[in-house]
Amino acid sequence: MSEESEGELEARLPEGESFEPPQSFVEQANVSDEAIYEEFEENWPDCWERAADLIDWEEPYDQVLDDDDAPFYEWFVDGKLNASYNCLDRHIEAGRGDEAAIEWVGEPTDETQTYTYEGLYREVNEFAAALRDMGVEEDDVVTMYMPMIPELPVAMLACARIGAPHSVVFAGFSADALATRMNSADSEYLVTCDGYFRRGDPLNHKEKAEEGLEGVDHEVETVVVDRLGEDLDHDLRDAEHDYDDLVASNAGAEVEPVTRDAEDMLFLMYTSGTTGQPKGVKHTTGGYLSYVAWTSQAVLDVKPDDTYWCSADIGWITGHSYIVYGPLALGTTTVMYEGTPDYPEKDRLWEIVDDYDVTQLYTAPTAIRAFMKWGEQYPEQHDLSSLRLLGTVGEPINPRAWKWYYKHIGDEECPVIDTWWQTETGGMMVTTLPGVGEMKPGSAGPPLPGISANVVDMSGDEVQPGEAGYLTVDRPWPGMLRTLYKNDERFIDEYWTEYSDEDADEWVYFPEDGAKIDEDGYITVLGRVDDVLNVSGHRLGTMELESAIVGVEGVAEAAVVGGKHDIKGEAVYAYVITEDGYEGDEGLRDRIVEGVEDAIGPIARPEEVIFTPELPKTRSGKIMRRLLEDIANGEELGNTSTLRNPEVVRDIENKVRGD
Ligand code: WT7
Repeated sequence: MSEESEGELEARLPEGESFEPPQSFVEQANVSDEAIYEEFEENWPDCWERAADLIDWEEPYDQVLDDDDAPFYEWFVDGKLNASYNCLDRHIEAGRGDEAAIEWVGEPTDETQTYTYEGLYREVNEFAAALRDMGVEEDDVVTMYMPMIPELPVAMLACARIGAPHSVVFAGFSADALATRMNSADSEYLVTCDGYFRRGDPLNHKEKAEEGLEGVDHEVETVVVDRLGEDLDHDLRDAEHDYDDLVASNAGAEVEPVTRDAEDMLFLMYTSGTTGQPKGVKHTTGGYLSYVAWTSQAVLDVKPDDTYWCSADIGWITGHSYIVYGPLALGTTTVMYEGTPDYPEKDRLWEIVDDYDVTQLYTAPTAIRAFMKWGEQYPEQHDLSSLRLLGTVGEPINPRAWKWYYKHIGDEECPVIDTWWQTETGGMMVTTLPGVGEMKPGSAGPPLPGISANVVDMSGDEVQPGEAGYLTVDRPWPGMLRTLYKNDERFIDEYWTEYSDEDADEWVYFPEDGAKIDEDGYITVLGRVDDVLNVSGHRLGTMELESAIVGVEGVAEAAVVGGKHDIKGEAVYAYVITEDGYEGDEGLRDRIVEGVEDAIGPIARPEEVIFTPELPKTRSGKIMRRLLEDIANGEELGNTSTLRNPEVVRDIENKVRGD
């Protein structure tokens, strides 16, 4: 990271500014005694039994952690369980079948649906039976390409019930992205829908799914949910089944939850890495479920009677862990919203909080920055006093946005948790415990109990407080990824470094984030240190973006960097060299934007396309991204003397400034 951005971070974090957790919160918190840190430390790894105790096991595990084959750690060895049983059956057995499991809020303001635990159980069983009829067997990967409709968690839990891992592909991703993921996972089943509403208009999703299937190199059976009815007609083709018909023909079916080993795969989730090929992160049944249940309880303070709302999309890990599995494992009510925060009006979220008496809200800094820009008059129109806790995830939150959230949404009565974690970690890793730790705006906080995270330099030594370094995790945890799907080698290469001393091998996990730590052990995450951007809390690999751009006719070479953006945090800046005979004009610019949308999706749309005759390169031919970043951000340019072509930098700078 550059010195400039570091200096800026310091400036944003006036020393000593911190907030105590509100007393009213502490008094009722699931965890309010700071002794928990020591208890976990003294009793590690057995402390994790506390997480495993939150779920029901068909057969108990023999061992908490097996590290014989590190970094291929195993958790809750030989334990047997089923995730769907834990999220449904056991709550019904406890007499809570009539309570709401999911409050679904559609984009059209008059469309809502309440699923009780009993109702959700019924539909999950019927769909599980239908999947079996279609031929889905244990360990077959079922892909879901669906927006925020209730059939998505139904399908996930139905898969979990029959031991078929799911792979959910974010609905905003492109047809190409769907094909890549289905091919990589050898997935022969797809659950999708006809379309969904965006800002009042029906949007055709099936078309995109069909296009994706053209790129899949094996046969696929598809289930189509009819979300839009008469608002968008659709036909079923060969090997396509209607969701409602399948469920209706299995009315009343009960499917015995399949006994899964703790280490059996619960799901795959693809995420962007440094290469063009997305990484299939594998999560397991026992460790993952225990970990998300535990963090939902300890950090989100979830209680069965809550109406808890995470406004993320289930297409990302946040939604898997903290809309579906964590909250449902704990038997609470989880809110699921189909639309966007500013439709029909910019008070939509606050209207939902008010209507449903939402108790916890977990959202992203990018959303908070947008709320701030729209102004406090929108939350002020509503009664938000039901809120007890506020959370953020996905990217660093600047103290100004933190304080706005704390004041205008939480009325200074709700703790704000800034939770650092990743697709790979399965659940939260670094955050204050809301009923225990003081909050420092801009800093996520200390590692959670039982988690050992540090900030180190290039050689693996801990840095001094306040210095920038690499974030590391030097002990395994139950929610960790177990491997990258069918690619153990890449799993080790990408994430692990082995430091050996005389008698022990020490494996250290590198999340690829820069960070610094203060005297109190609070960690401030500074951002990615690999070639991955974080746009509105979404990870986008520069390599993926560049190959999409280079695939456009007329483009010879491209380099993508992140430029600072008020709302998105980072935005995509593309520097492009045209091929001989092509002009860097509006037409080509549009085709580049289109090319990126086709290859990845609208979230990856470049903010700026800058045509340039050359890219700044070192003598060895490596593109100097740091310079391109500084140009994008209008910052003082660092040393250009190591460049083979220093003159090109001024040219590019003039172009960007001239925009
Ligand atoms: C990357 C992970 C975790 C679910 C959503 C994103 C960044 C995440 C924070 C935070 C600063 C954060 C990191 C991380 N990130 N949370 N609280 N403060 N940065 O999951 O797509 O796997 O992205 O998001 O850079 O590595 P993901």
